[in-house]
Amino acid sequence: MVTGALGQIGTDLVEELRKKYGNDNILATDIRKIEDNPGVENGPFEILSVIDSDSMDNMVKEYDIQAIYHLAAILSATGEEKPELCKKINVGGTVSVLETAKKNNLRVYAPSSIAVFGPDAPKTAPQITPLNPKTMYGKTKVIGENLANEYWHNYRVDTRGLRYPGLISWKSPAGGGTTDYAVEIFHAALEKGHYDCFVDSNTRLPMMYIDDAIRGTLELMEAPINEIGNSRSGYNISGLSFTAQQLADSIAEKIDGFTCNFIPDKRQIYADSWPDYIDDSQAKEDWKWKAQFNLEKIVDSMIEGLSD
Ligand SMILES: NC(=O)c1ccc[n+]([C@@H]2O[C@H](COP(=O)([O-])OP(=O)(O)OC[C@H]3O[C@@H](n4cnc5c(N)ncnc54)[C@H](O)[C@@H]3O)[C@@H](O)[C@H]2O)c1
Repeated sequence: MVTGALGQIGTDLVEELRKKYGNDNILATDIRKIEDNPGVENGPFEILSVIDSDSMDNMVKEYDIQAIYHLAAILSATGEEKPELCKKINVGGTVSVLETAKKNNLRVYAPSSIAVFGPDAPKTAPQITPLNPKTMYGKTKVIGENLANEYWHNYRVDTRGLRYPGLISWKSPAGGGTTDYAVEIFHAALEKGHYDCFVDSNTRLPMMYIDDAIRGTLELMEAPINEIGNSRSGYNISGLSFTAQQLADSIAEKIDGFTCNFIPDKRQIYADSWPDYIDDSQAKEDWKWKAQFNLEKIVDSMIEGLSD
């Protein structure tokens, strides 16, 4: 079962899981209707709100579910506008998933985020460091990691998660996060030849291409349980880090005449509170993580994907 399956990551993850396990064996669920994302139409789909734990439990039994990939969440930019909703869905949803997993003996993948780091974390964020995020979104992600750890330690629910950096993909739009500019810029470049970027040109953030993120997700879930250490619910994984200006310059090299203005809005504050780089040595050591996409490869893949 995949929750929040119609979102940015769900679109790509459902496709890969269905390739691997068969279309009929992956149940996509979301609070939105399937018409919102026809890319997910090639297999079973159910409307499910993640805070409705009774419906989740019934669906798990009806479809004989063995693992939940829990992607439903309110992301950082939307979460700061609606902090109560963010808390309710992100924390409440994670509790529903973990309780359902405990009752039905399921494995759980619940992603975390680089938003768990606050301004006091080193600019190259280590795996282990105090987690004092300033955003409500980041706080809910820290709670999510702690809950997942608790269910592993207390109930032996096999929970795993990655701290995704900003993810860049083309099959589905980005869903209300601070790193959305790194996706929107490609759409704008191809449609209008111009983008007004909502963070400053020198803003540097950890990013990753979706193919790396999905591969990392599958690799983490496939790793033998004895290779998974204490970072199980929030492994740092690094792709690459670039400034908004470097991204714009790379796109301009491929799209003639592309221009970009930098007009920071309040999302600049969230971006500034996050690290510039991620130290992923623990993931490399435990389950042999390695990113494959550099900036040029990402720009080429995005332009090719969106031009088809
Ligand atoms: N995309 C990124 O760059 C990024 C980075 C770090 C972490 N993450 C994490 O990855 C996960 C997936 O993110 P995404 O980018 O695909 O988000 P998204 O916003 O694109 O998709 C989230 C989906 O959840 C659904 N949803 C919202 N409320 C729901 C509810 N109550 N019940 C069921 N579904 C609900 C939405 O309809 C949406 O389809 C989240 O946990 C997010 O925090 C994403």
